[in-house]
Amino acid sequence: MYCIKKVTDDLVWVGANDRRLAFFEGVYSVPEGVSYNSYLLTDEKTVLFDTVDKAVRQRFLENVETALKGRKLDYLVVQHVEPDHSAVIPDLIRQHPEIKIVCSARVLEFIKQFYDFDIDSRVHLVEENDTLNTGKHTFQFIMAPMVHWPEVMFTYDSTAKILFSADAFGHFGALNGALFADEVDFAKDYMDETRRYYSNIVGKYGTQVESALDKVSALNIEMICPLHGFVWRSNLSEIISKYMLWSRYEPEERGVMISYASVYGNTENAAEILACRLRDKGIKTIIFDVSVTPASEIVSAAFKWSHLVFASTTYNAGIFVTMEALIYDLAAHNIQNRRVAIIENGSWAATSGGLIREILGKCEKIDILENNVSILSGLKAAQLSDIESMAEAIGKDFAAPAGVAQNNQAAPNAVDPNTMFKLSYGLFVLTARDGNKDNGCIINTVMQVTVTPVKITIAVNKANYTHDMILKTGKFNISVLSEGAPFRVFQQFGFHSGKDTDKFAGSGEALRTTNGVRYLSKWTNGVISGEVKESIDCGTHTLFIAEVNQAFSLSREPSVTYQYYFDNIKPKPQPPKGNKKGFVCKICGYVHEGDTLPDDFVCPLCKHGAQDFERI
Ligand code: FEO
Repeated sequence: MYCIKKVTDDLVWVGANDRRLAFFEGVYSVPEGVSYNSYLLTDEKTVLFDTVDKAVRQRFLENVETALKGRKLDYLVVQHVEPDHSAVIPDLIRQHPEIKIVCSARVLEFIKQFYDFDIDSRVHLVEENDTLNTGKHTFQFIMAPMVHWPEVMFTYDSTAKILFSADAFGHFGALNGALFADEVDFAKDYMDETRRYYSNIVGKYGTQVESALDKVSALNIEMICPLHGFVWRSNLSEIISKYMLWSRYEPEERGVMISYASVYGNTENAAEILACRLRDKGIKTIIFDVSVTPASEIVSAAFKWSHLVFASTTYNAGIFVTMEALIYDLAAHNIQNRRVAIIENGSWAATSGGLIREILGKCEKIDILENNVSILSGLKAAQLSDIESMAEAIGKDFAAPAGVAQNNQAAPNAVDPNTMFKLSYGLFVLTARDGNKDNGCIINTVMQVTVTPVKITIAVNKANYTHDMILKTGKFNISVLSEGAPFRVFQQFGFHSGKDTDKFAGSGEALRTTNGVRYLSKWTNGVISGEVKESIDCGTHTLFIAEVNQAFSLSREPSVTYQYYFDNIKPKPQPPKGNKKGFVCKICGYVHEGDTLPDDFVCPLCKHGAQDFERI
């Protein structure tokens, strides 16, 4: 019997689940199963997005026929040829010889490698940004090579604002009746399997994932339909913000993952003592026995935690087998941007530490603590100080108070207190939304005032349209600008009024936090959502006191300070030509020529007053 789910009025999920599969791709255990998603659109033309694994062929074919309701199948869009999504194409063609297969040249090449059916007579080749109209809907094709294979392509339905994202944004685990991520407690019950899927399947290709994210950031996306796992129709930033962290190899949590390989329990003993000393300092820890926990779970945890400790006995003059496999696995998955410490053990010649150091030392931005702790068979009392020294050295990286270190998970919809450390006398994009109108401006005054609950103040010039929107809606976002922000961001949000300019026009920035307000995903290192609790009239400005109801970090790039902006971002003012005299706006660099500057002069670019000008 068919089993289909409605996605939208004209889009139906026709995929299927497999809970009998032991190992996905023959290597990753999937105790909760896996879903193979496929979607059928019934427009003037009918369009199927990918097929499924051969294990669920029969259910899938029945689903497609049911959703087609007797219509013919016009198009099959093939976004990824890996057989978990393409295995049933030959069956489908036998049933619907009329199909046109919409795909890239690379997909065509791969299909010919895997299958023998006649594709040349039915192929409709597309290239980057090509479009296909099927009646009401227009689709744009976006190449996303190496997310997960080189031929991968995303498809954007610009009518329904749906991104069909191939493997991206998927997770291990079958669908258990719910189709949408907002029907479950995703952060609690599914994020770990989403991270395990990401890190093991595409973790190696962070750069390519970043460039795919860059491409789709130009789109207005309201729904994401991946090939595995849930469909996203709300709070898209929950999953996108994770992908942004993972693709940059940024840890999600500050804490220490300790993995050990121990034959008789002595290396395990050292690992546990280290964990206790770290916990004594208020640092979060997690321990894995690499001979017990599957490597894919440890690789996933390594993508999550900021600090990694490897403790291994020496075996056959090398690294213990399970640890050796893990270390090579991590290197193969391109692990980077982590602090690492090593404990080695060996009864007559401890070599494992040096070998681990050699392998991980070749990975990018891996900072390994200078001294290994080296054990001869078993840890002795005299060596406890070595473990304490290692805990001390790691602890230096955890400057935050213990309470904060224990409670710093960056889950969207939660408040990550570490985001507050991004605040400075800096520059921020303040955004608000009133009805369908999005707007933003630059401000320089954001300050945390309480911890429980987290409250901040912002001061906003009454002349700013964003000010009026916040006064009306009581909601705003702060995007904390980082040092990489180009001058054009300051021009875009700081030098125009939202009353007569759409500040998001052409920016392609489509991400929103849970409160529905936009934020900047690029050139910012953290995002804070505030809900106004009080406002104080301060003359030219209103001081808003707001409770923070969502906060998450996006990168570890330093926040822009005002000084940094002046020294490094703002173009240096060009003196007036000839002997002309003038005044330069310290904010935006506008030059007013003349001997005098009226007291009521307002910069035509950034609207700052005469007090912000200085004589050239
Ligand atoms: Fe779900 Fe890369 O296949």
